[in-house]
Amino acid sequence: MQKMADFLTPDYESEYLNKDATAKDLVFMGGRASISLNGNWNYTIDPYDTCLRQKWFKEIYKDDEGRTLPVDFSFDTWEEIELPCNTNTVKPEFFWYEGPVVFSKTVRLKETDLAHDHICLRIGAANYKCRVFINGQYVCEHFGGSTPFMYDVKEYLKEDNRIVLVSDNTRNRYHVPTENTDWFNYNGIYRDIELVLLPGDYIKDLKIALVPGSAFKKIKVTVRTSSDSGVVKVNIPELNISELLSVHNGTAERELDASPLLWSPESPKLYDVTVSFCEDTVSDKVGFREISVKGNDIFLNGEKIFLKGISVHEDSDATGKALTDEERMETIRVAKELGANYLRLAHYPHHENMAKLCDKEGLLLWEEIPVYWAIEFDNPDTYNQAENQLEELICRDYNRASVIIWSVGNENPDTDERFKFMSSLADFAHKYDETRPVSAACLVDGKTLSIKDRLAEKLDIIGVNEYMGWYSPNFDELDMLFKNSNPLKPVIITEFGADATAGLHGTVDDKGTEECQAEIYRRQTETIKNIPYIKGMSPWILFDFKCPRRTSSIQGFYNRKGLITSDRKYKKPAFYVLQKFYREKN
Ligand code: GCU
Repeated sequence: MQKMADFLTPDYESEYLNKDATAKDLVFMGGRASISLNGNWNYTIDPYDTCLRQKWFKEIYKDDEGRTLPVDFSFDTWEEIELPCNTNTVKPEFFWYEGPVVFSKTVRLKETDLAHDHICLRIGAANYKCRVFINGQYVCEHFGGSTPFMYDVKEYLKEDNRIVLVSDNTRNRYHVPTENTDWFNYNGIYRDIELVLLPGDYIKDLKIALVPGSAFKKIKVTVRTSSDSGVVKVNIPELNISELLSVHNGTAERELDASPLLWSPESPKLYDVTVSFCEDTVSDKVGFREISVKGNDIFLNGEKIFLKGISVHEDSDATGKALTDEERMETIRVAKELGANYLRLAHYPHHENMAKLCDKEGLLLWEEIPVYWAIEFDNPDTYNQAENQLEELICRDYNRASVIIWSVGNENPDTDERFKFMSSLADFAHKYDETRPVSAACLVDGKTLSIKDRLAEKLDIIGVNEYMGWYSPNFDELDMLFKNSNPLKPVIITEFGADATAGLHGTVDDKGTEECQAEIYRRQTETIKNIPYIKGMSPWILFDFKCPRRTSSIQGFYNRKGLITSDRKYKKPAFYVLQKFYREKN
């Protein structure tokens, strides 16, 4: 009998393996129409993963003789939830919940919808594992909590459908990130859910950018198509570009002569680009700019630039990771008020709208995958997850002018396994995207008190996290660090900072006070400004954020290193110290 089996099968998960949705399944989304599945879903937390063990998605309500069976689920009478969102934020009792959550929705499709040759389910992000079931069948699974996934589900669909999604944010050593992080492990499906309708022949991917070293006079267009041959039409009206490119082995590629107005934070000029292939048409708003590195300098459009930045997490008291565009705009507005021209989006890919908004508003971005602290560097499966997340991120944001640096990780032990692991990631990023520098946020070498991470040889820009004055109380070590170091590449101070609980006052030596934080910012900026090889910084961090590791009474499960409180209401004195520094830097 079905019911009997489930609790006798310890390895129930093996049935759900090897149907991975990966970067290879992604399809370019610019300008595409889709059927949104956002909105009301029925849901339940499922602490023991019983949906998968008992196969609720099969909806077996009767035995072979038609007798009614008792069941432990009720899709349509479960509570409702408005997706996308983080389940942790809908009920106080779910705040600390980590584990499987089951979502169910019935979807009616029109004949005209079903007439499409391909119908892809796309989910903007679900933390961490997400399994998809349609009309009683297991469809696919995705690993990775911050990047989109897609899967062609046409064969499973009919007029009336039940879609069941199981997201599971159980932390695990072999995941990316691993089970220990300094941020809150939100649950659920927290970015858009949609069905994307595609014709038989369609555009799988569109990559367009200035050709590095072309004196800003050439644009390279690469279009990947679902079929091996045919003709692609590329239109950029404002640049009088209307070109036909022939497709060979599924790719059409050409360098086109053009003299676009260059995109920069001061003039974030975007061009409308339209590409068609057979019945399919996509579009995008693209800025053309060149980011390059030479010696210790970073160049934007051939001009030396200093990245005046701040780090940000994707976290808000109101919505968790499911931020609204208004909240994203608030972050951009406050960063500009700080005098920043650059943001470090830490430590995982943020919502794709953040880069689109920064394209429009004129802010430069560092984007990162969560190869964070001590992940399992000797585990091939962990590597595949990391590389897939990197590919999904680059595939998603390649056309974003604001994105200038790919980061392959943060604060990792300098072991051989890690060197091999992250070198492969850096090589992958370089191969996949020739237009952007690659970096990582490295630790200071404790033995020599210098910037000496061997991974630097694989990077174009060296990120350095240093907490002189805080985790390293002896501030004088900062001077020594910079004196002991002689990097041959540009350095970005990717993190420095100090906790300050709003309203807590004392002397500059009293840790946790506003005065101490402001003093550390004053001394850090005073020191950094004189170091010739430092070409940017992104202090830790713009807003206080939730963190289960921070239990002291003045922290209250928050990392209080924000320059502003988590409710975005109160600016601590250090905010103005950094603002003054960035204004002077101009
Ligand atoms: C680390 C880490 C951050 C963390 C910060 C801190 O450097 O990269 O994720 O939050 O330090 O300790 O506050």
